[in-house]
Amino acid sequence: EPAKREEFSGQLGFILSAVGSAVGLGNIWRFPGVAYENGGGAFIVPYLVALLTAGIPILFLDYAVGHRFRGSAPLALRRVKRWLEGLGWFQVAICFAIAVYYAVIIAWALSYFVYSFGLQWGDDTAGFFTGTYLQLADVGGADPWFTLDFVPAVLIPLVLVWAATIVVLAAGVAKGLEKVNVIFMPLLLLAFGTLVVRALFLPGAVDGLDALFTPDWGAMLDPNVWIAAYSQIFFSLSIAFGIMITYASYRKRRANLTSPGFVVAFANSGFEVFAGLGVFAALGFLAHEQGVAVGELEGLTGPILAFVTFPAIVSQMPIGWLFGALFFGSLVMAGYTSLLSILQVVSASFQEKFGWTRRQAALRIGVVAGILSVTAFSTTTGLIALDTVDQWANNIGIVASAVITTVVIGWVLRRTEEMRFHLNGVSTIQVGRWWSFCIVVLGPVVLTAMLVSRIVTLITEGYEGYASWYLNLMGWGTVALFVVAALVLSLMRWRVVPDDFVAWPT
Ligand code: PHE
Ligand code: NA
Repeated sequence: EPAKREEFSGQLGFILSAVGSAVGLGNIWRFPGVAYENGGGAFIVPYLVALLTAGIPILFLDYAVGHRFRGSAPLALRRVKRWLEGLGWFQVAICFAIAVYYAVIIAWALSYFVYSFGLQWGDDTAGFFTGTYLQLADVGGADPWFTLDFVPAVLIPLVLVWAATIVVLAAGVAKGLEKVNVIFMPLLLLAFGTLVVRALFLPGAVDGLDALFTPDWGAMLDPNVWIAAYSQIFFSLSIAFGIMITYASYRKRRANLTSPGFVVAFANSGFEVFAGLGVFAALGFLAHEQGVAVGELEGLTGPILAFVTFPAIVSQMPIGWLFGALFFGSLVMAGYTSLLSILQVVSASFQEKFGWTRRQAALRIGVVAGILSVTAFSTTTGLIALDTVDQWANNIGIVASAVITTVVIGWVLRRTEEMRFHLNGVSTIQVGRWWSFCIVVLGPVVLTAMLVSRIVTLITEGYEGYASWYLNLMGWGTVALFVVAALVLSLMRWRVVPDDFVAWPT
C-alpha cells in the first residue's frame, strides 16, 4: 500500500507556495529589462495578451492534469495516457538542470547580501563581479573552456544553499515547502516593497519610470516583441515545467482550482510590474548621478543588472548598505522558493516511481544535483556554462514541452473537454469554451511558431559568440540529454505499478 499522498494544509498554503514558485529571479531581473527593450509602455499589450491566451490557460491545464490524476508530472501524465510518461520525465529533466544552475545564482545573491553591509564591491563593480568574486577565466584561444579551479567565495554559499534545500525537501510538502513559503512570501513583500518605495523617492526616479513606460507603439508590429512577451509569461509563471502539475496533486479532493489560479497569475504579474517600478526608479537615479540619460546606461537585465549595475547604485545612495541588503535579500528569498519548487518535481517523481521515501529522495537528489552544481558552476568557467545551459533549457526545453502538452492533449488525445469539466467540477469560477480554444488552437499555433523561430535563430546566429562546438555540447547536448533521460526513465520499471488508478469523478 503506498502511503497517503501529501497535502498542502489548505488554500492559503497552496497559493503562497505557488506564488513562491512563480515569483523568482525572472520577476526582478528579467521583466523590467525585457519590457523596456520591447516597446516600454506598449509592451503591456502583448504581455497581457500572452498572459490571457497562454499563461493562464496553460496554468489551468497543469492544475487540471495534476489534480485529476494526482501525481507528479510523470505519474499524472502516464495516467492521462501511458506513453505520455516520457513527457513528464522530460519536464523532470529540465527541472533538474535548471535547479543545478539556479542554485548558483542564489549563492551569488547570498554572498552579495553579506557584501552589502560593507559595500565590499568598491568602485569598479564590474571588475569586482567577474574578477574578484567569480574569478572568471578568459575563454577561447588557447584558454580552457572548462576548468576545475574552484572559487571558494562561490562554493561556500552554494553548499549552504544545497544543505538548506535538502533539509526543507526532506521535511515534506506541508511541514517544509509550505512553511518556508508562508514565512518568506510576506517577508519578501515587505523587503521588496520597502525597496521600491525608497527607490521612488530617489532623485532621477521619474526619468527612470519615464524611460520604462514611454510607449513605442511601433514595437507591437514586431513579431520578436510578441515572442518576448510569450516567453516572459512562460518562464515567469513556471508553467509547462511540471511544477504546477505536481503542486496541484497535493490539493485536497474538493479544492477550488481556478480562483487561486487567477490569484497566482495576477500576483506574479503584479510583482513583476512592481519590480519594474523599483528597478527603473533606481536606474533613473544612477543615470542622474552619472549625468547621462537612462537610455545610455548598460546592463539593464540579468546577472549584470543584479550584480554589477545594482551594486553601483547602492554605492551612490545614502544608507546604501540597507538598500543593498534589501535587494539581495529579496533575490535570495524569491530565488530560493522557486528552487524548492523545481526540486519538489524531481523528488516527487523519484518517490513515486522508485518507492524512495521523501528523505531518501531529498538526500540523493540534493547530493547529486549539489555536486554537479559545484563542479560545473563554482569554477572559473562557471558563468558561460550557466548562461548557455539556461538559454537552451528555457528557450528550447520549456517551449517544446508546452507545444507537446497542448498538441497531445488538445489534438492527439482530444482530452481538453475532460480537463475543462474537471476544473469546473471543483472550482467556483467556471472556465468557458474560450479556454479550450486557447489550448487547442492558439497555444499550439503560437508556441510552435515561437519554437521554430528560436531553433532557427540559435542555429543560424549561435549564441553570444561562443564557439559552436561549445554550444553543441552545452546547449544542444543538454536538450539531447533531456530526451535520453526521458526515454530511459520512462522505460524503467515502476516499483508499484500505478495503472489501477481511477480519476475522481466530476
Ligand atoms: N518563475 C520563476 C521566475 O520568474 C523562475 C522559475 C523557472 C521557477 C522555472 C521555477 C521553474 O523567476
Ligand atoms: Na515569475
